Amino acid sequence: MQKEDTLPYDVFDVFTPSQPAKLSFIDRETINSGLVNALRTPGKQIVVYGHSGSGKTTLLSNKLYQTYEGHITSQCMKGMSFEQLVIDAFDQLAPYYEEQKSTKESATSKASLAATYKSIKLALEASHTSEYSKNEKRALPPQLTPQSLGRLLGSSKKCWVIEDFHKIDETEKQKLSQLLKVFMDLAPEHRLLKIICLGAVDTARQVVAYDEEMRRRVAEIHVPLMSDQEIYQIVNKGEELLNIRFPSALRSKVAKHACGVASICHQLCLNMCIDANVIGKQGSPKALSDKNFDRAVEMYIEDASDSLRGAFDKALKQRNKTKFDSSRLIIEALAFAHERGLARLKLLSRIQENSPSYTDAILKIHIKKLLEAEYGSILRHDSDSGLYSFKDPFYRAYAQTIIHTENNDHAEPLSTSAMTSHILVHLRENLIIIEHEEHRQPSR
Ligand SMILES: Nc1ncnc2c1ncn2[C@@H]1O[C@H](COP(=O)(O)OP(=O)(O)OP(=O)(O)O)[C@@H](O)[C@H]1O
Ligand SMILES: [Mg+2]
Repeated sequence: MQKEDTLPYDVFDVFTPSQPAKLSFIDRETINSGLVNALRTPGKQIVVYGHSGSGKTTLLSNKLYQTYEGHITSQCMKGMSFEQLVIDAFDQLAPYYEEQKSTKESATSKASLAATYKSIKLALEASHTSEYSKNEKRALPPQLTPQSLGRLLGSSKKCWVIEDFHKIDETEKQKLSQLLKVFMDLAPEHRLLKIICLGAVDTARQVVAYDEEMRRRVAEIHVPLMSDQEIYQIVNKGEELLNIRFPSALRSKVAKHACGVASICHQLCLNMCIDANVIGKQGSPKALSDKNFDRAVEMYIEDASDSLRGAFDKALKQRNKTKFDSSRLIIEALAFAHERGLARLKLLSRIQENSPSYTDAILKIHIKKLLEAEYGSILRHDSDSGLYSFKDPFYRAYAQTIIHTENNDHAEPLSTSAMTSHILVHLRENLIIIEHEEHRQPSR
């Protein structure tokens, strides 16, 4: 049992839509054991990949807590260079080496590492002062080699977590691959030296471009979206911790709206509790109602409407003059397809019903863009089934809303409250269709 369980907690500690779950963390056994084995194997470097919101950060933070004394985390952003990443890691080692200075470690290797640390720090400070006025980026001092970073990190017994590595440019990614090699070779000296790269993509190779010979020394951990059973487990944990009850019809509605994305499950449960005035653990069991659920969905849409609008604006923005408005054609075809989505060729034939000269070559290029942040990341691609679908049911209902309003010639853009009620209507309709299909096909 984690120590937090014994501390006082409230609903915001139980349902955590925007931070890693602790109290309501559920073990996903096969993925967990793969990750824990890789964390314990000296020299093994790790790539954790999977859709945004699938639970990569949560899984890692819960497992690191069990296997490592500490870790440092670097957050990648588009345009960031490899050198900046290395400097960021070095900066985060400061507390460890500065404290060491005051305890006056006498062992020679530690003393020499402390000296290395100091000389790099001085070199960084010097480059900072001279470069500052021209360019705020600090240059990588020659002393800060992959080997020296590896030794400094290794003897601090911390591992290095690099979040969102998929955002880094390809050329920079190759440099990290070289660094991984150096870290692997330092394993006999530093058993715990390890880099863990996380990326919200379909394959491990999209996160880090390493070569074939390194493959068996890199653990590729795929974190899939959650199954309905896993979503139910989160709901169960919440029930137990807060002494509340979600009737079975509500649980299945939560699972359907979440569509494998745990943060939606956390947000809907949190909203229901807030609506029912459940803040702490209840003295006697309290059941949540359909009314709480409806209000929770409404609150969800009200909160998300700006980001939905923003995402679709990015997707639909016409960047240059082309024969086809691909974003619009894809959105229209997917909005009224099955909620699980469509394979590319099926999507193509739907588009060609109205635009016969549209080609697969155009679709292939454009559909990938709609997975990227620059185009609002409105779609997801499931590499197992090959299906493209909207990121979650709220994106789908939003797409239906914009098509519906355009078809009805609304001259003015919809107000937020009108938009919310349109999305709600589409969500409800979609849910009825899913339930109807399940009823017809009980074996699915
Ligand atoms: N194993 C789990 N048990 C309970 N809740 C979880 C679990 N994994 C994830 N969650 C919840 O799901 C949400 C998303 O998780 P997380 O941030 O870890 O995903 P991610 O894959 O790192 O997403 P991103 O790629 O966007 O960074 C959070 O609300 C978190 O609390
Ligand atoms: Mg994350």
